[in-house]
Amino acid sequence: MCGIVGYTGREQAAPILLDGLSRLEYRGYDSAGLAVRDGGAPAEVVKAVGKLHHLADKTDQGRALRGQCGIGHTRWATHGDPTVINAHPHVSGNIAAPGGGAAESDVVGVHNGIIENYAELKEKLLRHGYVFYSDTDTEAVVKLVDYYYKKYGIGPVDAITRTMVRVRGSYALALMFRDYPGEIFAARKDSPLIIGTAEDASYLASDVPAILKYTRSVYYIDNLQVARVSPGHAVFYDLNGDETAVPLTEITWDAAAAEKDGFEHFMLKEIHEQPAAVRDTLNSLVKDGRADLGAAGLTEDIIRSLNGIVIAACGSAWHVGMAAQYVIEDLAGIPVRVELASEFRYRSMPMNENTLVIVISQSGETADSLAALRVAKERGALTLAVVNVVGSTIAREADHVLYTLAGPEIAVATTKAYSAQLAAMDVLAAEMARARGMITGEHYARLLEELAALPDKIRRVLEDKERLQWFSSKISNAHDIFFIGRGLDYAVSLEGSLKMKEISYIHSEAYAAGELKHGTISLIEQGTLVIGVLTQSRLFEKTVSNMMECKSRGASLMGITVNGNFAVEDSVNFTVYVPKTDEHFTPSLAVVPLQLLGYYTSVSRGLDVDKPRNLAKSVTVE
Ligand code: M6R
Repeated sequence: MCGIVGYTGREQAAPILLDGLSRLEYRGYDSAGLAVRDGGAPAEVVKAVGKLHHLADKTDQGRALRGQCGIGHTRWATHGDPTVINAHPHVSGNIAAPGGGAAESDVVGVHNGIIENYAELKEKLLRHGYVFYSDTDTEAVVKLVDYYYKKYGIGPVDAITRTMVRVRGSYALALMFRDYPGEIFAARKDSPLIIGTAEDASYLASDVPAILKYTRSVYYIDNLQVARVSPGHAVFYDLNGDETAVPLTEITWDAAAAEKDGFEHFMLKEIHEQPAAVRDTLNSLVKDGRADLGAAGLTEDIIRSLNGIVIAACGSAWHVGMAAQYVIEDLAGIPVRVELASEFRYRSMPMNENTLVIVISQSGETADSLAALRVAKERGALTLAVVNVVGSTIAREADHVLYTLAGPEIAVATTKAYSAQLAAMDVLAAEMARARGMITGEHYARLLEELAALPDKIRRVLEDKERLQWFSSKISNAHDIFFIGRGLDYAVSLEGSLKMKEISYIHSEAYAAGELKHGTISLIEQGTLVIGVLTQSRLFEKTVSNMMECKSRGASLMGITVNGNFAVEDSVNFTVYVPKTDEHFTPSLAVVPLQLLGYYTSVSRGLDVDKPRNLAKSVTVE
């Protein structure tokens, strides 16, 4: 998704803004731009299509743009094609040179999110003599701010709050006003924005990694708040224009956690960070041999009162939900439904205060997941967020929060956050089973012991990566890959398939193994790769039979199974073994070879592993 940065201080702004934007590249974008102003001079705007180095080249690495206050943006096109004219920043004036130039405008701004009523706003502004040069919704917002600013002769904060009342949709905005040199004004609704302060400087960003190098002291600007930012200082206002207090938070992440640390790609680094991500998450949730959900406020009484659980999430987080449903139902006996957040928000699913809606999200900002959370609250359900980013909107709005401790995840394809989410959901399942009297104390202790052993077992799976690298080079020209499994193995297959397609661009599908013969098996031809996940002893023979059905139609086979199931080698062409664990927790191990397979296949194909085409790390639009 789009990225925002801002800087005001004593240094030259443009190099800092370019550096910040480079740290947001992982979010996905197709054009970028800067607006920098030197004292009271009007802002100079420069924009470029494509990778950030085009913008850096155009500005001589930022040196050509003089000034100590500025804003920058990477755009992921929603309204209007990815062109220079549509790239941000946008200006309130009527003319903007396609590639930028001095903006003889009173207001210059960048925006993340979507303004739903921009067409209606544009019409109104056209009637008042504004001329539009781009196809973006952002231009309408910048011009609307300018319109109120002039019409009522009010200050920037009031002009922005009036605009906020008038627009519908989601936004994080950073604006500079010509009459207010050295200041940046910001506002947000349903799109993340943070403000960092240091001694003589302030920074704005849509995500922490952009400013971590400069400061760890940040304000999480709240929904429907405005901020007035000057060097080293930020003042916050509510929608009435009254000053409001926002707490200063210390970021505890190590700056190095957002660096590649010698790995070729963030994804590979994050795959290797999984033992730590799972261990830290487990340690935060299990104390002295007992799950401690006290911080999340999930009491035994609440757990006992539940008569149903709905899990809503997107992408890989939804796959975690798919796995968790089997574990919760099996251990705790509570019926679970797993819904894509984008579908759930438009369904009229009956629920009440005894329904727990769990929203799983790494970023805590995914628009559909946030909407699902709000719908659940409106319908009277109790809500729990399982979130990685502290202070994110989903974490703040849910009734209860379980944090995963995966640390910053930069690669678009999630790995360590997925694993940390699985671990958190497994602890939750075990605790629900205990609190509801569904398992003995001995069984509970065994489950927690098995969970505690997972980090080391994940590390052992990682030791086998060279074989997967070799196999990936063999399959890198494949056209179609099928991932099949039953039960928990099906849930892992979904994640394996997504990992493969999102970064290698090879078409792949995950299928419940028993369902293949109802249609999809007609796609199997000579040489089609079918990967079977075979970790559930009860379902092993059945999935092997389904793989044989594919083999007899020409498929070549790969199997992922647990140590000891060596007979599988008689039937499949390539086998990967993972250590034994309680079968409820095998997804945490089986997913690792699948992540490596996706990763190495993408590398073999020479693709941009960390920033796959068309994708964004955090999808903050519907
Ligand atoms: O930040 P979230 O966990 O809410 O993101 C959900 C999905 O967008 C995310 O898992 C996506 O599917 C990843 N690209 C998967 O690797």
